Formats: sequence, structure tokens, C-alpha cells
Amino acid sequence: MIGVGVIGYGYWGPNLARNFAEAPNARLVAVSDRRPERLALAQARYPSIRASTDPGELIRATDVDAVVIATPVSTHANLAMAALEAGKHVLVEKPLASRSEDAERLIEEAARRGLTLMVDHTFVYTGPVRKMKDLIGRGELGELLYYDSVRVNLGLFQHDVNVLWDLAVHDLAILDYLIPQRPTGVLAAGIRHVAGQPENLAYLTLFFDNNFLAHVHVNWLAPVKIRRTLVGGSQRMVVYDDLNDSEPVRVYDKGVTVNNSPEETYKMLYSYRWGDMWAPRVEPTEALRTEAEHFVECVASGMTPLTDGACGLRMVKLLEAATRSLVTGREVVEVV
Ligand SMILES: NC(=O)c1ccc[n+]([C@@H]2O[C@H](COP(=O)([O-])OP(=O)(O)OC[C@H]3O[C@@H](n4cnc5c(N)ncnc54)[C@H](O)[C@@H]3O)[C@@H](O)[C@H]2O)c1
Repeated sequence: MIGVGVIGYGYWGPNLARNFAEAPNARLVAVSDRRPERLALAQARYPSIRASTDPGELIRATDVDAVVIATPVSTHANLAMAALEAGKHVLVEKPLASRSEDAERLIEEAARRGLTLMVDHTFVYTGPVRKMKDLIGRGELGELLYYDSVRVNLGLFQHDVNVLWDLAVHDLAILDYLIPQRPTGVLAAGIRHVAGQPENLAYLTLFFDNNFLAHVHVNWLAPVKIRRTLVGGSQRMVVYDDLNDSEPVRVYDKGVTVNNSPEETYKMLYSYRWGDMWAPRVEPTEALRTEAEHFVECVASGMTPLTDGACGLRMVKLLEAATRSLVTGREVVEVV
């Protein structure tokens, strides 16, 4: 039985606490949050846990084997390092850290101590994204052409990171999971509409070496919530709507073929395919449940997590490159 302590019981932390409290082979033993009113909620929900405003107390506790960190992004690196140095396995919220140097240090420390370091890239553990991975893996979409995502809503402004680090990171993680190719360059444009706050609207383009292009549109200042992604393939195309509970993934047998006319070479012949649409069955299990169980399994067996530190570092490097592009303006920044 792995003892789990959760640091940060704000918006997202309670979801992690609930899933670890319910996961087989894990036991939620402690919760820490700077705000006593949040701790009171945790204590009321889980009377047997220890609640403390001092995360150090949780990290030092001998019955805590693994620390789950759901605090603001700027605090991830220090808390995760303190937990690793205390010999604890760590699951950190996305993004792993706010600087790639910090992410690298965490990876080294975890490797040196033989500890599990995993990042909560939640969407990688969702049924719809796994279904898309399956469709792509089986060649159902043909050659992949593009990824085009809109992830907008009103509110939940983060104060320490811009909207790319908060929302676009989900798409970067989904892409990282879906396809083996890595972006070679990024171009970002963004704007801040609230004085003193980070950019709340951004458009991010990711360039690849092959015939594939990705675009991500994220916004905290939208009148409606949209979570819709198109994945275009030469054979079929997918529309993934994360807000559609009954049919989140729809596969369209649509496309276009261009043939040169043998008689008149200057004439292009387009033939459009208007085939069927179907919605494959998608695993309904809550992503965090799958993820909590995966983390516990990795801790127990020493297996490398699907979303390990290296994966977290790739996302941080992309976000750094995107932020450079956004700040310098209108420049494609190479991803190293
Ligand atoms: N995976 C997802 O889908 C998803 C969704 C939302 C948020 N998140 C991530 O979760 C993290 C938290 O986001 P949130 O929206 O819950 O923020 P939040 O502000 O609602 O909650 C953060 C909590 O951490 C506490 N806290 C801050 N510093 C602390 C410290 N040093 N020690 C103990 N407690 C501390 C705060 O009091 C607060 O209650 C962020 O990294 C965010 O990116 C992930």
C-alpha cells in the first residue's frame, strides 16, 4: 500500500486526492495547503488524513511514500525537489516546471535516487485521446496532415503563467502522445487583456519536418467553453469534442484527391470523398483514475511512466520556445 500526500487542495487538487483515495494499492494519508479553509474541506471529506499548512511536514512524514503536487506552476520545481530529496516519488501537475533547467534537475534527482517522477498530462489518460491514438496507430487516418485545436473558456485565470502554459500544454501533451514526430519550430502570438496579468489569448503554430502542421488556439476570455480538435488525415479525419460525453470522437470518411488530367495537364481534377461518419466507442473511465493507478503501478514496479519527467521536459522546452516567440513577436523560434 503506497501512502500518498497531496500538496495543493485548490481547484484541481481535490480531483487528485479523490482518485488516490479510491485507487487500489494507495492510501491518501495527508493533504497540505497554505489556505486553512481548503484544509478544512479536505479534512471534512477525508477525516482520517493529516492536514497541514506546511508542505514540509507532509514531505517529511514517514507514512508518505509519494507526493502529488497540485500547486501553482511557479512552486512546482521547489516542492518536487524537496520531495525527491526526502526520498519520495513524485507526481507533479502540468507543466512540470516553469523553466527547463528546473525540469532537468528534477529528472536527474529522480534518476539518481531511483524514484518515480511523473507529470499529470491528464488528456493522455482520457478515453477519447487513447481512441485517437489507436485509430492513428492502425493507419485508419492515413498520412497525418494537421492537428487543429480550440481550447477556450471564460475564467480560471492563472496569475503566474500565461494561457499557453495553462491550456496549450494540454495540446502539446496530446500531440506528443499521438505522433512520434517532434515540432522543429513554433510561432506564437498572444495578448493580455487584463492589466498586470499574463497573456490570456494565444495562437500557437507548431511546425514539423514532414507534411504536417499543428495549430492551437487558447483563450481564458471566451464567452463559451470549447474543447474541439480536428485531426486531418489523407484517408479519414477526426473531430474530437471533449465536451460531447456521448460521442467525443467522430471519424469522417471525407477527403480530397487531386488528379492531373492526362489530356490537359494544366487541368486539375479534384475528387471529393463524402463517406460515412461514425463514432467509435470510447472508454468512459475517468482519466485521473487511470492515471493514479498508472502512477501507483510505476512506483510499485519501477516502471517508467508514460508521462515521465522527460516528457514533461519536452513540454516545458516547447512552452519556453513559444513564450520567446510570443515576446519577440512574429518570429518562428526553433525548438532544441
Ligand atoms: N491537469 C489538468 O487538467 C489541470 C486542471 C487545472 C489545473 N491544473 C494544474 O494544477 C495546478 C493547480 O492549479 P489550480 O487551478 O488547482 O490552482 P488553485 O490556485 O485553485 O489551487 C492551488 C492551491 O495550492 C495552494 N498552495 C499554493 N502554494 C502552496 C504551497 N507552497 N504549499 C501548499 N499549498 C500551496 C493554494 O493555497 C491553492 O489552494 C497547476 O499546476 C495547474 O496547471 C491541472
